[in-house]
Amino acid sequence: MVPSEDAAPQLDVDQILADPGVRIVVCCGAGGVGKTTTAAALALRAAEQHGRRTVVLTIDPARRLAQSLGLTELDNTPRQVKGIDVEASGGELHAMMLDMKRTFDDVVLQHTDPTKAAEIFANPFYQAMSSTFAGTQEYMAMEKLGQLHARGEWDLIVVDTPPSRSALDFLDAPARLSRFLDGRMLRLLLAPARSGGRSMFSLVTASFGMFSKVVQKVLGAQLLTDLSGFVAALDSMFGGFRQRAEQTYRILQARETAFVLVAAPEPDAVREAAYLAGRLREEKMPLAGLVLNRVHRPAVPELDAERSRVAAERLAELGGHEATADVLRAHAALARQAVREQQVAARFTEAFPAVPAVSVTAQPADVHDVDGLRTIGAAISRS
Ligand SMILES: Nc1ncnc2c1ncn2[C@@H]1O[C@H](COP(=O)(O)OP(=O)(O)OP(=O)(O)O)[C@@H](O)[C@H]1O
Ligand SMILES: [Mg+2]
Repeated sequence: MVPSEDAAPQLDVDQILADPGVRIVVCCGAGGVGKTTTAAALALRAAEQHGRRTVVLTIDPARRLAQSLGLTELDNTPRQVKGIDVEASGGELHAMMLDMKRTFDDVVLQHTDPTKAAEIFANPFYQAMSSTFAGTQEYMAMEKLGQLHARGEWDLIVVDTPPSRSALDFLDAPARLSRFLDGRMLRLLLAPARSGGRSMFSLVTASFGMFSKVVQKVLGAQLLTDLSGFVAALDSMFGGFRQRAEQTYRILQARETAFVLVAAPEPDAVREAAYLAGRLREEKMPLAGLVLNRVHRPAVPELDAERSRVAAERLAELGGHEATADVLRAHAALARQAVREQQVAARFTEAFPAVPAVSVTAQPADVHDVDGLRTIGAAISRS
């Protein structure tokens, strides 16, 4: 017996995309499930079908997808996508790729004077952190979302999220990063740069003295100077960083935001989606629904796997019907896979029966052009 596919309420993505009250759509989920594809497909649909002035913030899009959106370089600003079908709707689609380092640089520039900024940029710790620190990409994605939102020039901002190991990273990383910037160890390192002799006898400075001697031995004096210089410079921006992350958190909780969870019908991805759904509920962030991407559907769902297999065997016994037997075997395999996928997906639906969902069939090839995105958009919308 094939489990009912529509156990969960149907996700009506067109209703969301058409709603002028919805200004932000965030696509999130585990790595490789189709977040970037879904974000681009939803943004295209919002522009073409619903006439909205839309911007999509993509993160590490595949090169061919980036090219087909006209994104040939990482320039950190939205570019209008040409050659799409917006004549009737009057919408617009703009696209950008997140440049993590440039976004970080811009934040620094906004919070300090040019001389200090130049010092920070030259610091090797800043260079390492702005391009490689775990969480920086997530933080900068949020930062960029905040910037796009603050300018108020978009009807709709569709946000892709980074290819994190865990889908929760997008929500956790900004807090983790501000904790790091704000952290106790860094405060200790910072002590000599700030105290200027004032707190010579304080416990902090005393313990730092011992600590720094050890660290100097291990890391070398220059490295320690660089690190404490970096922390001293960032220290003046702690408030700024935290405040901005908090502001973006509040935007994510607002009614103008809709989270779209993306999952593949695989145990890990569905588990991630369920974690994330639970977290969004805890954080009071509005979850619009689940897109179950790359599902397999046999052409004749009424013919179940077992009967198909038996028929293939029977034909093979009779001989002379190899092609038909092959088709039946392929159908049986696909039907079995479809049942497995539905069982996996059911774990989410059982845990979150009220969360609307929609399935998108696996396309025969990668989705890397506007036509492909349109097909995905139509599949998500069931139109
Ligand atoms: N419904 C689909 N059918 C076929 N291919 C798909 C489908 N959805 C996505 N893909 C392909 O799967 C690959 C991964 O998709 P995508 O880049 O959107 O995932 P992602 O979640 O953004 O990954 P990452 O976590 O690495 O950022 C891409 O090559 C994309 O073209
Ligand atoms: Mg991606």
